[in-house]
Amino acid sequence: MQHDTPVPFTDPDDIGHNHSASPTFDSVLQARLSRRTLLKGSAGSIATAALGGFSVAACGGGRHDPIESLRFTPVAKTRADAVSVPEGYVASVLYALGDPLSISTPDYRNDGTDTDFEHRAGDHHDGMDYFGLARDANKRDDDSSARGLLAMNHEATSHSSSERASAYVHANGGTNTLPRPAAEIDKEVALHGVSIVEVRKTAGVFSTVRGSLFNRRITPLTPLQIAGVARGHASMRTAYSTNGSAARGTLNNCGTGKTPWGTLLTGEENWAGYFTRGAADNAARNNDKSVASLNRYGRAQGAASRHGWESGGAADVYRRWDISKTGASADGSDDFRNELNTFGYLVEIDPYDPGTPIRKRTSLGRFAHESAAFSLLTPGKPLAVYMGDDSRGEYMYKWVSAAKWSNGDAQRGDRIATGDKFLDAGTLYVARFSADGSGEWIELSMTDPAIAGYAGFAFTDDAEVAIHTRLAADAVGATKMDRPEWCATHPETGEVYYSLTNNSNRKVEPSGTSQQRVDAANPRSYSDSVNGGAPGAPGNINGHIIRMREHDDDPSATRFKWDVYLFGAEAGSDPQKVNLSSLTDDQDFSSPDGLWFSRNTGLCWIQTDDGAYTDVTNCMMLAAVPGRVGDGAPRTLQYPLADGGTLDVNTFVGKAPKADTLKRFLVGPVDCEITGLCETPDGKTLFVNIQHPGETISSAAVGDPSKYPSHWPANAGYGAGGASTARPRSATLVITKRDGGRIGT
Ligand code: FEO
Ligand code: CA
Ligand code: CA
Repeated sequence: MQHDTPVPFTDPDDIGHNHSASPTFDSVLQARLSRRTLLKGSAGSIATAALGGFSVAACGGGRHDPIESLRFTPVAKTRADAVSVPEGYVASVLYALGDPLSISTPDYRNDGTDTDFEHRAGDHHDGMDYFGLARDANKRDDDSSARGLLAMNHEATSHSSSERASAYVHANGGTNTLPRPAAEIDKEVALHGVSIVEVRKTAGVFSTVRGSLFNRRITPLTPLQIAGVARGHASMRTAYSTNGSAARGTLNNCGTGKTPWGTLLTGEENWAGYFTRGAADNAARNNDKSVASLNRYGRAQGAASRHGWESGGAADVYRRWDISKTGASADGSDDFRNELNTFGYLVEIDPYDPGTPIRKRTSLGRFAHESAAFSLLTPGKPLAVYMGDDSRGEYMYKWVSAAKWSNGDAQRGDRIATGDKFLDAGTLYVARFSADGSGEWIELSMTDPAIAGYAGFAFTDDAEVAIHTRLAADAVGATKMDRPEWCATHPETGEVYYSLTNNSNRKVEPSGTSQQRVDAANPRSYSDSVNGGAPGAPGNINGHIIRMREHDDDPSATRFKWDVYLFGAEAGSDPQKVNLSSLTDDQDFSSPDGLWFSRNTGLCWIQTDDGAYTDVTNCMMLAAVPGRVGDGAPRTLQYPLADGGTLDVNTFVGKAPKADTLKRFLVGPVDCEITGLCETPDGKTLFVNIQHPGETISSAAVGDPSKYPSHWPANAGYGAGGASTARPRSATLVITKRDGGRIGT
């Protein structure tokens, strides 16, 4: 989560631009999933794992004994400005905003005077993966738990909701009027992107390696290549790349995915809000079809940019943030009218080799990408990549490669070429859920007449289907979900879990095209009624986690079964309407976001980015022993209607967690989001990101340290600044167990 345009304040994660006609579900009671199907599926998954599952082939160390019972004492909910972990665990700050990556870059003063962010940690640490390095040689070693690279996203910066400047990184809080000083803009741009930083264990303790030859930053100015179906397409041409083959940088990087061949996929999420568009741009474009796409992706004419970066001067590094048609060319090669089409992808980076080109994998679609989760791998079969589009009422996607997997692919030396093999040619699908507990993956291509003949956008080729993915998914009637955030693949069963973080637009009786009606896969709409204050407007306040099992456990299947693994809820909320998973005080959570499975322990980790339960607790991370699709029961939710009737919504609720299968493991400091985690292959070290402590800074607090909502991590003894005056910093934690055991045991 981060914040959007200066006035009025809107969380870009909360923006819904999907006004297409929505399929609805009837409310006929459906039979629960067939037990026979599940048993058959179970046998299939064992076969898949034995044939060279991801964990063995690519992740190093192989699987160890899965944890079936959580032994730690759960952490209580708290609003303390601190990190809490269970007794017996240690959480230390490893890598915080501004920490220098090079020897020559000075220590971080944290007073707004620091510069050179191209050689420092960026802001808003987000998705992250660990890439093992040999202890005594500068080469990849997937089994290494003592030395590795952390590759992580820096999604955004913190700023007062009514102002443009990033409040904590400028000496005076920054300039909020236009034009903004170029130096402030240059600093804010460099705070975004990706870090690669070496970490090494010495005497049992991990630290970063300042000056490592692997350390580097990728920013919104780093030259990247366009790869896949949209490379060279007419709608990718800009003044920066007149042939549509290159793009400048990556932006608002949120979730990640670790490929089986040892590269990072980073998802570009809320990139649209950084761009401005002129008030008369529709006419300037002769109302051509680009207008429909710009509207659908949240840039209607007159849209203001979040930070005003377009105001820095005449150089095209500033002009690029204005996507109005200003040039005279027919193809956009003399302005930045097509710049928006170069963002919104999964971007592949080889963390081991700074000399390898970075490629935007356009074939996997353009939307508000979160994480990328790989299917279990079977030699001779295609692989699948699961993805979500985080905005209200957006969709869930799957990519199936044309190329077939072989175990040799995991260790090929030319990793980006392996990416070319699996991520450029294949098929993109979108999910449609049915009320009977089944679902289908619908291919997005010109072969579907619903796309080729779509009235909402005149698609001409498959490159346009990839570039304007949301419109293609509208055309085929995909299911509008409650903000798909991260997804993750169960390392043993291959079942796919998706966080659906919340959705204020989910209604029993929706009005207008921006609201969605409750349905089987998104069945709740209720008011937050437990904590202080009057209940607010109804919606899916606390979010849920849905999971899917592919037909015959085949990642390339076009049918699946689903249920809801967990419903987020406050423990004291109505068990019939809200707390459907019977969460206790040790388990209750709101707004699941980060979602990840340990390949060592098999535990499912759930992280929150919440604004609904924050009157009681800061955001948190929970550990879970996952079940399987169909382990629970069908359930019917009854909603009274305005006309006196009743709406029955049937859904499928996973088996309620037990006290030792779901526990709160960590609570973060004030105003943070917990996001991004990875582990060493021995399962004994966990890296976790704390994003934007003190994010809700008010205008009045800018420049007044006593009013900062958080002073973490200085108040935990990390870095410069007083415990009650320091500017808060996003940071990576390293977590170990005092007895040296695996995390979660
Ligand atoms: Fe950046 Fe949807 O979280
Ligand atoms: Ca997120
Ligand atoms: Ca509440």
